[in-house]
Amino acid sequence: RATVIVAIDGPSGTGKSSTSKAVAAQLGLSYLDTGAQYRAITWWMVTNGIDIDDPSAIAAVAGKPEIISGTDPSAPTITVDGTDVAAAIRTQDVTSKVSAVSAVPEVRARITELQRSIAADAGNGIVVEGRDIGTTVLPDADLKIFLTASPEARAARRSGELKNADVQATREALLKRDAADSSRKTSPLAKADDAVEVDTSDLTLQQVIECVVTLVEEKR
Ligand code: C5P
Repeated sequence: RATVIVAIDGPSGTGKSSTSKAVAAQLGLSYLDTGAQYRAITWWMVTNGIDIDDPSAIAAVAGKPEIISGTDPSAPTITVDGTDVAAAIRTQDVTSKVSAVSAVPEVRARITELQRSIAADAGNGIVVEGRDIGTTVLPDADLKIFLTASPEARAARRSGELKNADVQATREALLKRDAADSSRKTSPLAKADDAVEVDTSDLTLQQVIECVVTLVEEKR
C-alpha cells in the first residue's frame, strides 16, 4: 500500500511524541500532534478570556480560532490565527486547563474534522498521535498502537522534560489529567480493540521506536 496511516494513543508521559516523530521521520511519513491542537484551542480560550469552567461558553466560540499544524516530523509547527504558539501551549497554565476544554463536544467535533482532513491530505501517509485516534478519529488506521507506562516512569520522564525536580507534583498533575481524559463522555482516552499495546516502562526510547517501525513495516 502506498499510503500508511498509523494511530498512536496513550496517556501522557508514555513517550508518544518522541516515538511518533522518530517513526515518521525514519519512514518518510507526515506527523500530527493532536494534543498540540487541543492545547492551541485552549491557549486561544485563555487568551480571549473565555471562562474555562463554562462548557457552553467554550462551545459557542469553538469554531473561531484558525489552527494550522505543520506536519514535518523534523520541525512540527502550530499556529493560531497566524501566531506561532509552539512555546505558549506548553505552559503549566494551558496544561492544567486543556482537559476541560477538550472535553467539550463542539471542540472535539471541530478538531476531529481538522485531523481527518490533514490525514487525508498526507501523501505518503502519516503518524497521528493523541488519545482517541484509533477509536474515533481514524478508526480505519492501518496500524494502531497504544502506549502505556507505569505512573512512576511517566512522572520521571515528564519531570525530566520540564526540568522540574518535583516528581511527586508532576505525577499528581499527570494522573489528574489522565483521569479527566479517560472519564469524559465524548471520545475518552481509550485503547481500541484492535490496537497493539506496548508497555514502555522498561524500554528505552530507541527500543520503542524500533518496535513501532517493525510493526509499520509489517503493514506496508
Ligand atoms: O498529548 P498532550 O499531553 O499534549 O495532550 C494535551 C491534552 O489534549 C490531553 O490531556 C487531552 O486533554 C487532550 N487531547 C485529547 N485528544 C487527543 C489529544 C489530546 O483530548 N487526541
